[in-house]
Amino acid sequence: MELSKDFFEFKNDPVMNFKDLFAFAERVGVPDPIAMNLTTVTADNKPSSRIVLLKEVDKDGNFVFYTNYNSSKSQNMSNNPNVELLFFWQQIYVQIKISGTVTKTSRKVSEAYFKTRPRISQLGAWASYQSELIENYEVLEDRFKKVEEKFKDQEVPCPPHWGGYIVYPEAFEFWFGMEGRLHYRYIYERSGDGGWLRKMKSP
Ligand SMILES: Cc1cc2nc3c(=O)[nH]c(=O)nc-3n(C[C@H](O)[C@H](O)[C@H](O)COP(=O)(O)O)c2cc1C
Repeated sequence: MELSKDFFEFKNDPVMNFKDLFAFAERVGVPDPIAMNLTTVTADNKPSSRIVLLKEVDKDGNFVFYTNYNSSKSQNMSNNPNVELLFFWQQIYVQIKISGTVTKTSRKVSEAYFKTRPRISQLGAWASYQSELIENYEVLEDRFKKVEEKFKDQEVPCPPHWGGYIVYPEAFEFWFGMEGRLHYRYIYERSGDGGWLRKMKSP
């Protein structure tokens, strides 16, 4: 489905635009609209990308996801807090790019979110030393069995190396795919007075 450029009324606040477009994507059944590409910067200044899941847009308009704090992405982010998030909702032909900087969620917030996860994912968070090289898949299965045994009949605590990141957005780009490649691109940058500047870019 391609949208008419007039289908959406852009507001001055890009976070509101994101939320409205997200609600629309959910309504029309875009699969996994919370899946987003996260690009970090490596220590030798190379980009590094992977998909993570958006868990919350908080009351201040920040974007929250969860991961392993020892992973490659987390090492990248402790060296360099600049990141980019990228959504593509194919069914409505919308791309949204968010550039920003990250900080960690508080331990309390990470623990509260960890509690809501399915037990199998909680055990997985202990079993997987995310981003480390392993000999083979059995290594992972063995670790999983061990943690299953360790936490048998008890609540699985949030691992110390697991938690969230909060992306503070500095710029947004909204892209609507249009016929004849006359795509519609709006960018938003922080204006310095708490508001946003909106500009249009050629596709
Ligand atoms: C649909 C999808 C959702 C994912 N969600 C997450 C997530 O929320 N957090 C996470 O750490 N990894 C998630 N992953 C796995 C990451 O893409 C990645 O493989 C992993 O985090 C290791 O990345 P790194 O070695 O670059 O740190 C997801 C992968 C896919 C395909």
